[in-house]
Amino acid sequence: MSLSLSLFLTFLLFPFLSFATPLAFYQHPSSPATALFRRQNTSLPTVGSAAWTALYPSESGTPTTIPQSWLDALAAAENRGLIPSISQSTLDATTGVTTYPDGQDPTGTEVCSFTYQCNVTTDIVNPPEGVIALTFDDGPIPGPSDTLYSFLYNNSQHATHFMIGVNILGAPTQFLIAFGNNKDHIGVHTWSHPYLTTLTNDQVVSELGWTVQIIHDSTGGLIPSCYRPPYGDTDNRVRAIAEHVFGLKTVTWNQDSNDWTIGEGTTEEVVEGSLTNWVVNGGGVQGEGLLILEHELMDTTVQAFMGIYPSMKEKWTVKTVPDAFSFTWYQNGNSSTTPAFPLSVASPAPTSTSTPRAPTSTIKSAHTSTVTASASKGSMAQTGSTSRITASHLLGLVALGMTSVTLF
Ligand SMILES: *[C@@H]1O[C@H](CO)[C@@H](O)[C@H](O)[C@H]1NC(C)=O
Ligand SMILES: *[C@@H]1O[C@H](CO)[C@@H](O)[C@H](O)[C@H]1NC(C)=O
Ligand SMILES: *[C@@H]1O[C@H](CO)[C@@H](O)[C@H](O)[C@H]1NC(C)=O
Ligand SMILES: *[C@@H]1O[C@H](CO)[C@@H](O)[C@H](O)[C@H]1NC(C)=O
Repeated sequence: MSLSLSLFLTFLLFPFLSFATPLAFYQHPSSPATALFRRQNTSLPTVGSAAWTALYPSESGTPTTIPQSWLDALAAAENRGLIPSISQSTLDATTGVTTYPDGQDPTGTEVCSFTYQCNVTTDIVNPPEGVIALTFDDGPIPGPSDTLYSFLYNNSQHATHFMIGVNILGAPTQFLIAFGNNKDHIGVHTWSHPYLTTLTNDQVVSELGWTVQIIHDSTGGLIPSCYRPPYGDTDNRVRAIAEHVFGLKTVTWNQDSNDWTIGEGTTEEVVEGSLTNWVVNGGGVQGEGLLILEHELMDTTVQAFMGIYPSMKEKWTVKTVPDAFSFTWYQNGNSSTTPAFPLSVASPAPTSTSTPRAPTSTIKSAHTSTVTASASKGSMAQTGSTSRITASHLLGLVALGMTSVTLF
C-alpha cells in the first residue's frame, strides 16, 4: 500500500488527530540509562523527520553497527557469568524449527527454548484467572494498524504492541497514533524480526538495542520493559542478554491464534474458531488467564480480533501486559502519558562476586515427548511459508524510502 493511501486512511479513521503530538517529557539527563540510549541532545528530532530517520541503521537485517556502550554492557554481563554459554541454534528454513548442536537439549533446563514450549519462571506467560493480556505483534503497519488503533480507541481499550524497529522507522505516523493518541503500551519485537537464538550475542544486542533506542527516542525517553521474541524463539542465552544488558522481561504466550497463517494454511474461520473456544467457551489454560499471540500484520488478523472483542469484554478483564502482570509500563515510566523518571539500566556490577542467576526451567524431562510433538506441530504451521512471512513482516522496509519525501 502506498504511504499516501495509508495517510488518507489515517485521516479518515482519525479526523481529530493532530500530528504535532508534543512529547512533553524527556528522561532526566543524569539517568545512567542515557549512557546506553542517548545518542543526541535533549531536543530530539521530530518523529518521522529526515533527521530522525537518519539516526537509525538503514541496512536490512540485523544492524552491524552497534554502539560501544551496549557492547560494554554485554561484556560486563558476560564477565559476571550472567550470560550462559549456549551455542547458537540453526534454523531449518523449511520447518521453521531451530535446533542446537549435539549435546544441547533445547527442552533441558540449561537451554530451555520456547520454540520447544519450554518456559522459565521469569517468563511472562500466564495472566491471572479472568484476565486477558491483549497483545499485537509486528506493527506498526499502515492499513491494518490504522484500523486496529481506530477500533481500540473507539472502545477505550489499551493494548500492548510488540513493535518491529524497522516498521516504526517506516510508519512513524502509525507509531504516533499508537503511542501518542491511543496512549497504548509499546514493547520490543526486535529490529528486523529474526530467530533470535540463531544470532551471536552481539547480534542479539543489536536487534534488541536498536528497537529500544528508536522507542526511547520517539517517546520522549521511555525505555521499554519487555520484549517478545519473534516466532517465540528465545532461550536462556537470549533471555539473559535481554535482562542483563537492557533490563527487558521476556513475554511469550499461552495460546497461539496462528492468525498470521490466514490465507496460507488456515482460514479466518479457523482462527476465529480458536479464539471463540478460548474466549467464549473457556477452553483456555485451566486456572489461568489468556495471553494470546495475535498480530496487527494484515487486515484479516485485525478483523479476527475485532470480531471476538465483544465476547472478550463480556467475560474477561482485558488489559495491557504490564497491567495484567502488575509491572510498570516502561522501565522509567508508569504509562504512555506520565513523565519518564531516572533509572539504572545495566548499571555497574555489584563488587561482590554474585552467583550467576540461572532462571528455573519449568519443563520436566517427562514432558519431552509432548514437547517434541508441539514443536513439530508448530513447524507444520510454518512449513513453506517461513521466508515469505519473514519478508512480509517487514513492510516498513517498503515504506522507508518514501518516509522523508512524503511526510516531510
Ligand atoms: C549537543 O549539545 C552540545 C552542548 O550543548 C553541543 O556542543 C553539541 O554540538 C550538541 N550535539 C548535537 C548532535 O546537536
Ligand atoms: C471509530 O469511530 C469513528 C467515529 O465514529 C469511525 O469513523 C471509525 O470508523 C471507527 N473505527 C472503527 C475501526 O470502527
Ligand atoms: C509452557 O507454558 C505454556 C503456556 O502456559 C504451556 O502451553 C506449555 O505447555 C508450557 N510448557 C511446558 C513444557 O510445560
Ligand atoms: C510510578 O509508580 C510508582 C509505583 O506506583 C510510584 O512509586 C512512582 O512515584 C510513580 N512514578 C511516576 C513518575 O509517576
